[in-house]
Amino acid sequence: MKEKTAFITGANKGIGFGIAKHLGLSGWRIIVGARNQERAEKAIRELTALGVEVPGWVNIELADLTSVEKAARELNEQYPELSLLINNAGIPGDMSVDSQHTELADIRETLDVNFVGTFALTKLMIPLMAKNSGRIVNVTVPSEISPYWHPLAYVTSKAAQNAMMGVMAMEFQQNNIPVEIFSVHPGPTTTDLNGNMSLPGFHNIDTVGQKFAELLNDGKSHQGEFVELYPIVKED
Ligand SMILES: NC(=O)c1ccc[n+]([C@@H]2O[C@H](COP(=O)([O-])OP(=O)(O)OC[C@H]3O[C@@H](n4cnc5c(N)ncnc54)[C@H](OP(=O)(O)O)[C@@H]3O)[C@@H](O)[C@H]2O)c1
Repeated sequence: MKEKTAFITGANKGIGFGIAKHLGLSGWRIIVGARNQERAEKAIRELTALGVEVPGWVNIELADLTSVEKAARELNEQYPELSLLINNAGIPGDMSVDSQHTELADIRETLDVNFVGTFALTKLMIPLMAKNSGRIVNVTVPSEISPYWHPLAYVTSKAAQNAMMGVMAMEFQQNNIPVEIFSVHPGPTTTDLNGNMSLPGFHNIDTVGQKFAELLNDGKSHQGEFVELYPIVKED
């Protein structure tokens, strides 16, 4: 039987915590990814109190490639049964400026976390995922530019992550590599990332985490898909 152990980056709060909770309650063991011991231990206490099995946590700072390598080594050595990597951790960049006023440093920092660090971790985890016929799931936003909301650093970093997903999915299929990769857009969710905004159409981390867990447990292949947790219905 395939072991059900998942590693979630940024699992200590927000959407990552919501996914950890509901995936955990559905029977998965959760390895918490966090970059701070105190925050990781707080999340583990909360998850354990809810009945989630948490074998441990792994320190990962996506902006630091040495930390990413150390985390990947730890995951490979301590959790060889791991079959699900959820690339959830991310930063918003500066959402208050238009593109021409976006600082280069902001573009670099946002790309470093949301794309480069995420790619580095994904790359290092592919052999284990292949060994366990596992899955890699990215938490993201659409690459299409919305007329209503388009912070350059953030959308650029997520478009790069989306491209990574598409390319890898195609190559896994072409080369018969037994790994599935897909992306999920959770839709607007009230978290620290957006200053805990709660406008109409926003969801909370519990609702999102629950839907996320249902998707991951649906028994279907989602190779190469961009899944909208809350599909937008277009009217004619
Ligand atoms: N909220 C939304 O409306 C929304 C919509 C679409 C997609 N998303 C995506 O959902 C994901 C989770 O976001 P969220 O809304 O839950 O935000 P959040 O509440 O701010 O949580 C972000 C998580 O990522 C971690 N993180 C941040 N920078 C990191 C780094 N350099 N290295 C490792 N971990 C880092 C944070 O850790 P610390 O606690 O240590 O800071 C935290 O655990 C992100 O990828 C985001 O782009 C969010």
